[in-house]
Amino acid sequence: MAEKKQIKATLKSSTRTGAKKIATVMDSNATAFPLKTEGDNLPTVSEKRKILFVASEARPFIATGGLADVIGSLPQALAKDPQYDIRVVLPLYSDIKPEQRRKTSFLGNLYVPLGWRNQYCGVFTCVENGVTYYFIDNEYYFKRPGCYGYYDDGERFAFFSRSVLEILPFIGFYPDVLHCHDWQAALAAIYLKTMYCKRPEYQYIRALFTIHNIEYQGKYSLDILEDLFGIPSEYKYLLEYDGCINLMKAAIECSERFSTVSPTYAKEIKTAQYAHGLQDIICKNEAKLVGILNGIDVASYDPATDKALFANYSTENMQGKAVCKTEMQKMLSLPVKDVPVIAMITRLVSHKGLELVQMVAEDILHEDVQFVLLGTGDVAFEEYFKDLGRRYEGKASVNIAFNNDLSRKIYSGADIFLMPSISEPCGLSQMIASRYATIPLVRETGGLYDSIKPYGAGGNGFTFASCNAYDMLYVIHEAIDAYKNKESWENLMKKAATTDFSWLKSAEEYKALYIDTLNAF
Ligand code: GLC
Repeated sequence: MAEKKQIKATLKSSTRTGAKKIATVMDSNATAFPLKTEGDNLPTVSEKRKILFVASEARPFIATGGLADVIGSLPQALAKDPQYDIRVVLPLYSDIKPEQRRKTSFLGNLYVPLGWRNQYCGVFTCVENGVTYYFIDNEYYFKRPGCYGYYDDGERFAFFSRSVLEILPFIGFYPDVLHCHDWQAALAAIYLKTMYCKRPEYQYIRALFTIHNIEYQGKYSLDILEDLFGIPSEYKYLLEYDGCINLMKAAIECSERFSTVSPTYAKEIKTAQYAHGLQDIICKNEAKLVGILNGIDVASYDPATDKALFANYSTENMQGKAVCKTEMQKMLSLPVKDVPVIAMITRLVSHKGLELVQMVAEDILHEDVQFVLLGTGDVAFEEYFKDLGRRYEGKASVNIAFNNDLSRKIYSGADIFLMPSISEPCGLSQMIASRYATIPLVRETGGLYDSIKPYGAGGNGFTFASCNAYDMLYVIHEAIDAYKNKESWENLMKKAATTDFSWLKSAEEYKALYIDTLNAF
């Protein structure tokens, strides 16, 4: 009865949005998309646009990387616009901290079909800064440490994605745009466009898929298509790529629009060098692709108020930054002296350009500098940097850890922030460092290219173009020299700290993209 009411309401709201008739096509070249017919209009301005974010992590609930920062801040930036109703669905991992967990309340439960299984799905909810969050509960899938890295991740995120579609009547919310992020949420777009769009209440929902990193595509053996993912074999052509299931490929193909997290990365992923095998799919769909640079949560990353800092400061009064540096040096057992501190806060994986650092680490450390590293990752890199730290005791501080509090102390205490990524879809650390008046030194790729401009040309940091350790070293020397001129360095710090990395501009670009997605067919 309640569901019937809901369906009626949705149909009414669809009519209000101006859409009239739809047609569904289904042949070997096209998926079961509802197609708009002539006369379809944009939603009227008087109605709220309903956006449902689907993602595998979001601050402040659960975070393993940059995705969590974006899903933690973009929805809230959008929700400031009274014309938008923004909601987010996440898995209810057991690692969500108790203080966050306590904020949620139980809405109810249902059973979600997954191949031949019917799985329990509890739904929890809470509201934070104008955004409604839903959490999908199933202890079999999510009562495990961490978020990823299990043999059955494909099944876990298939269950999550399928649950997103199943809970819509339950929560009484049919979004205008289902905004899915990375491969873990790809199946939500795929289920929508293959199976659910035939239901009247789902037919007007448009899908937008955002790639945060094309390296992780969600590849599985073709045998599990029907059994585990529950997708009829007639859609095999949509999911198959290179002899296996490729969830990212299918989400790109079947979403009305797809995006990535910087304009330069949007160009780069059309090439074999960056696309990890998906370049042909990207090029084929390039008319649907948009690159929007991420912002950061400038309220959370504010040196004037950040409680993790040894002292607060702002561009009007930078004295606190010197305190941050001295106290950080003490904390990390580095001599307290006025030499440039070069910092890296990074996952220790190859695409972060760590081989470049390895090649010239000794040259860097022979200069009158200090080097601070914070991060975890591949064992080989961890061991290499630990050894470097031992050999350059008192000059290099190597911290193999993931520590939010320490990261903020380093962002504020360092002078130069090194980020020589081989590829970087957007990168947030260079923006956070900037905000703390720590000068980024980056390779010109992806979002690094879009956010940091060279000092020599009046920019906010230091940059080098090719993947060459000696080009990087040359620019490091340039930065060390620039540091010696206190007055111009102070100006550079102010320039970096006042560069606008808020979500203001990017949130507007997302709104335009939602409208474009709604208009697409
Ligand atoms: C991924 C990317 C990173 C980006 C983040 C948020 O972690 O590797 O570059 O900033 O997603 O979009």
